Amino acid sequence: MATNLTFTMIKPDAMADGHMGKIIAQIQAAGFHFKALKMTRLSKEQAQAFYAVHAARPFYGELVDFMSSGPILAAVLEKENAVVEFRTLIGATNPAEAAEGTVRKLYARNIGENAIHGSDSDENAGIEAAFFFSGLERA
Ligand code: RTP
Ligand code: MG
Repeated sequence: MATNLTFTMIKPDAMADGHMGKIIAQIQAAGFHFKALKMTRLSKEQAQAFYAVHAARPFYGELVDFMSSGPILAAVLEKENAVVEFRTLIGATNPAEAAEGTVRKLYARNIGENAIHGSDSDENAGIEAAFFFSGLERA
């Protein structure tokens, strides 16, 4: 996958708190183009698989329960230097440490329920996009 793509999910907390539309608008205003978009809900098994890299971490069980607790909005986004630019837009994992104006500063509940996911590398962006979308769905 090219280096101008990233993958995101609006997490169950932000969906339940009614922030979906504002977050989509903020992503677009920052210059990202939506290449694919899907509202869905992860099963516990799917959340375990998506976050398998964190399986040994103490917060893994909590993370899996949270990520499968309600609907999420998954998307593939395009912008130059997308992975890095998007991580800047969403802010630090812990909203208490996130910069002013970032998605997590504005909308996250806490370090675990932190509103949004952003891929951390080009390689993972490709893997994560393929987890949710077929090639046909990524026009
Ligand atoms: P993400 O993968 O969701 O974009 O978040 P991230 O890179 O900023 O953070 P990462 O280290 O990959 O952690 C994945 C998600 O696990 C939850 N978490 N909880 N309770 C805790 O200490 C803790 N630490 C991480 C968060 O939902 C985090 O986004
Ligand atoms: Mg991460």
